[in-house]
Amino acid sequence: MPSAHIELDARAVIAPLRRRIFGSFVEHLGRCVYDGIYEPGHPSANEDGFRLDVVELVKELGSTTIRYPGGNFVSGFRWEDSVGPREKRPVRRDLAWHSLETNQVGLDEFAKWLKLTDSELMLAVNVATRGILPALDLLEYANHPGGTALSDLRIANGAREPHDVRMWCLGNEMDGSWQTGFMTAEDYGKIAARTAAAMKMADKDLELVVCGSSGSAISTFGDWERTVLEHSYDYVDYISCHAYYQELEGDLGSFLASAIDMDYFIDTVVATADHVGYKKRSSKKINVSFDEWNVWYLTEHKKAEETNDEWRYAPRQLEDVYTVADAVVVGNLLMTLLKHSDRVTSASLAQLVNVIAPIMTEPGGPAWRQTTFYPFSITSRLASGEVIRPIIHAPEYDTAQHGQASLVDAVATVDEQRAAVFLVNRHLTEPTHVTIDLRSLGCSRVAEAVTLSDSDVHAKNTIDDQNRVTPIANASAVLAEGVLTIELPPVSWSAIALD
Ligand code: AHR
Repeated sequence: MPSAHIELDARAVIAPLRRRIFGSFVEHLGRCVYDGIYEPGHPSANEDGFRLDVVELVKELGSTTIRYPGGNFVSGFRWEDSVGPREKRPVRRDLAWHSLETNQVGLDEFAKWLKLTDSELMLAVNVATRGILPALDLLEYANHPGGTALSDLRIANGAREPHDVRMWCLGNEMDGSWQTGFMTAEDYGKIAARTAAAMKMADKDLELVVCGSSGSAISTFGDWERTVLEHSYDYVDYISCHAYYQELEGDLGSFLASAIDMDYFIDTVVATADHVGYKKRSSKKINVSFDEWNVWYLTEHKKAEETNDEWRYAPRQLEDVYTVADAVVVGNLLMTLLKHSDRVTSASLAQLVNVIAPIMTEPGGPAWRQTTFYPFSITSRLASGEVIRPIIHAPEYDTAQHGQASLVDAVATVDEQRAAVFLVNRHLTEPTHVTIDLRSLGCSRVAEAVTLSDSDVHAKNTIDDQNRVTPIANASAVLAEGVLTIELPPVSWSAIALD
């Protein structure tokens, strides 16, 4: 059996844990909103049409910030369509997803839903096909207390209290040719700077996210960040990263090492942002908002798109059904975000319900947890305090996509009362025996140890078998004299809580 040894030192603090790393994303896409979070007539729906069974799962997931309303959708969106009396709201074509948008859920309804889930709203404005004034109007509508045309309109529409949105995205994936109104880095950098400057004239404390690259493989990666920040550095607070991973052509070994790409992506964006900052002699640092990340079987989606020529309401789109291996990768990506919490201070799992989502629903039927639900919810529940950088001694293996990869990856968090360790074993067939020296953490007891794995790494949860894959207690975890030993099954994700 392969073995690995990990050293944890309570003084090796990366940064305080940022709760916004556990953010998620709701886009008007497919059945995320309609027939997802919103289904009037469903037995569990409240008086506003929101499914309370979904609300319960969102709370259990432990997501914090929720990005809304897109995504690609936002680049064709007129926010004014989605407020006011519902019967007057227009049906529009959504070019991004080739479907029809009824606007029956808009900002005011979504803000109400967020209260049910205890989440923070992160709002995107359409800089692609609109302009500065509609963005300022939305800001006034959302945040101004009252006594102005648009804040009074919000109050008349039933939302007395301002929504007080702190984080705003200046468009979405503006580097992508698929984006309605895509731009060059020069053009986008200028419009983003002007939009951000105007928004900060209204409220200097807003936290603004400028679009970075929509993937590390896109040809403009690096140059895009540099150019955009050269224009917008003084006005924005975050630059975004987006990344989706999938198992390609049965290469599970590479797929399990996807976190290596995320690591490289973050390091490169931080270095580029700091380079622009140094050139400007600025004392300010731009942080990363990793506001779309997940496993997404994009090649399957592209094949399906070719035959989608109808305009439909809430079609079934991007409804990936996730495997155990997918969940291990999701858990590992979240560990990578934690390891960068000195600069990645916000992130959004894309997305939340039905659309490449940890939660699935059926109209009139049940809501259930995908495999990927578990590493996210457990990490969100157990992580606290400060993030600790581990020293990992583990065998390596060769991957076609990412070079040498460590067989085991890990991260830990520590606070006064407790600690948590998160681990993956990337070995395809064998368990790995791990010892963790955590004497400096001062813990004396394993409070909880769970592992997600299965003899079939492609096992899934489906409507017919909703609990096929669930985490189970890992009885091999033993703490003796400050050294934890645990056996990690092949292709597995584990969490250990200690106090
Ligand atoms: O999350 C699905 C889509 O992926 C988003 O709309 C877009 O931003 C990205 O390309």
